[in-house]
Amino acid sequence: MHMNLQNSIGIFDSGFGGLTIFKSIAEKLPSYNYIYLGDNARSPYGDHSFETVYQYTLECVEWLFAQGCPLVILACNTASAKALRNIQQLDLPKKYPNHRVLGVIRPTAEVIGNVSGTKSVGVLGTRGTIKSESYLIEINKFFPEVSVHQQACPMWVPLIENGEHTGNGADYFVKQYLDQLLKQSPSIDTILLACTHYPLLLPKIEAYLSSNIKVVSQGDIVANSLVNYLQRHPEIDQKISKQNQASFYTTGDAEAFNRHASVFLEKEVLSVKIKL
Ligand code: DGL
Repeated sequence: MHMNLQNSIGIFDSGFGGLTIFKSIAEKLPSYNYIYLGDNARSPYGDHSFETVYQYTLECVEWLFAQGCPLVILACNTASAKALRNIQQLDLPKKYPNHRVLGVIRPTAEVIGNVSGTKSVGVLGTRGTIKSESYLIEINKFFPEVSVHQQACPMWVPLIENGEHTGNGADYFVKQYLDQLLKQSPSIDTILLACTHYPLLLPKIEAYLSSNIKVVSQGDIVANSLVNYLQRHPEIDQKISKQNQASFYTTGDAEAFNRHASVFLEKEVLSVKIKL
């Protein structure tokens, strides 16, 4: 079949994590065309400086624009925390006035306060996301009554990128960061996985926590927000082709990408390696 992926929705992450967002989006909007780009060769982004995350993210966004994507989702909290504002305020107006880039932090902050009964939320993310304090700031805008407790989990993305997240070694690090978070407040009843990789650790996270703590992943939140965005912006929606196609690109090893992505998406994924 001829693949016409011009005018796809671009979905970007540092690696595999954005697949958790892609999966939810593609379930909600199955007819749309998608191009997924994982910057696996340079992942994890979580410990990189602001400048580095901005530079890497912009390169990936520009690559997706060059493939004809009018809209790109930064399916990565670290990139959303460190690069989105610059891209939206500097790069788009100057170079790409007709393109749009959306992140994952704001749509999550808009709803997370409604989930917590005790109004006490734990946020788990990469060092970059946690240090940026983006969730503290954004959740406070929408839910000033909610107290937010943060914990960085720097070992989780490397476990996932190396395919070790289902192994026994992962249990140690799951316990370590959850204990550190829960020590901060006994009233936390909601834990937000504010890194798109973390839902891959969900079975271990849920097994460790007591059942009165809700664990929230971002996939459905971001997908609902995108549906809403496309309804409010028919001029963007009209530009996107709807032939129910998706293609996958990685800056890393294509075979490793195919192996992990196929297991996670429960269908065969054939990615193409690109050089930025
Ligand atoms: N999946 C990206 C996020 O949501 C993260 C990770 C990384 O490369 O450290 O933050």
